[in-house]
Amino acid sequence: MSKAFGFKGYGGPEVQGFLDVTTPVPGAGELLLAVRAAGVNPADWKLRTGFMREVFPMKLPAVFGYEVAGVVEAVGPDVEGFAVGDEVFGSVMGGGYAEYALVPVHSVARKPAEVSFTDAAALPVAAATAFDGLTQLGLAAGQTLLIVGVGGGVGVAAAQIARHWGIRVLGTASAAKREFVETLGVTHVAYGDGVADRVRAAAPDGVDGLFDLVGGDALRAVGALVAAPNRLVTAVDPGAAAEFGGHMIERSRDSHVLEVVAGLAASGALNPFVNAVFPLVQAAEALSAVETGHAEGKIVLQVG
Ligand SMILES: NC(=O)c1ccc[n+]([C@@H]2O[C@H](COP(=O)([O-])OP(=O)(O)OC[C@H]3O[C@@H](n4cnc5c(N)ncnc54)[C@H](OP(=O)(O)O)[C@@H]3O)[C@@H](O)[C@H]2O)c1
Repeated sequence: MSKAFGFKGYGGPEVQGFLDVTTPVPGAGELLLAVRAAGVNPADWKLRTGFMREVFPMKLPAVFGYEVAGVVEAVGPDVEGFAVGDEVFGSVMGGGYAEYALVPVHSVARKPAEVSFTDAAALPVAAATAFDGLTQLGLAAGQTLLIVGVGGGVGVAAAQIARHWGIRVLGTASAAKREFVETLGVTHVAYGDGVADRVRAAAPDGVDGLFDLVGGDALRAVGALVAAPNRLVTAVDPGAAAEFGGHMIERSRDSHVLEVVAGLAASGALNPFVNAVFPLVQAAEALSAVETGHAEGKIVLQVG
């Protein structure tokens, strides 16, 4: 048996807690990892509430966590190219807040030696979503990107990758995050009343692309600033994006994208900004910090 943090029914934080789980055995196409770090994401608490239960029913009890970094403990029967003791990171479809996790081999990559376990665990959701969204936007160096919600995990990764590609970046964030986002080379735009006018003033030649991480009225306030509808992507609100001709980001969740973002992290071009690391025993506190909706950078659990 091993320890994991999850939920036994849908609801608020009252349904979550530690579970004793049978240590899994890797099947075909899987690796078993001894987890060293697990990223904490808004999807974790959103799925606990059951808001997606009709399209994405979960087998309960469920263990939180969609991204992990760790050491290969066992290798599935047909897996080639990985061995016990390898340091890797990857995407999981639940099961990350645990001492051991099964990872499909098609969504795992080697952890570069220069990247810590905690930083690596922060890449598969936020940085890979940022990479997928920017790739779909297809902006060229010198063009201008607006990121709605630049101060969170996906926003800081998208800002750095875009800057690395030579794209000018404006980002909406609370006034409290101005200094932080400016360190990323981003022109800070405070959200709230008058946000569209502030964007126009900061980018008088217009906005070539929009990357939305908030949705709803925050997106509607600025969606019309993008001239070409295919240059608007969202990670969160396809309905509001469609009002402007935009669309949901298509996630790849494959090893290739993980290798690319790990390379950027290893070279120093991408810092996932892990601003808080909690031990697994404090998983509830870590999740609560993300559930506020105002996290800065990433929050990661350290395991073992
Ligand atoms: N589809 C996918 O595959 C996928 C993948 C990753 C994430 N997502 C979704 O994308 C969203 C962002 O994820 P994340 O990991 O970056 O979240 P996060 O780390 O929790 O950050 C959310 C950020 O939104 C900012 N924010 C809140 N209200 C805002 C507003 N009205 N205008 C501008 N910024 C605002 C907050 O900063 P302030 O303090 O400045 O308010 C915070 O920094 C979440 O809804 C998540 O579920 C989807």
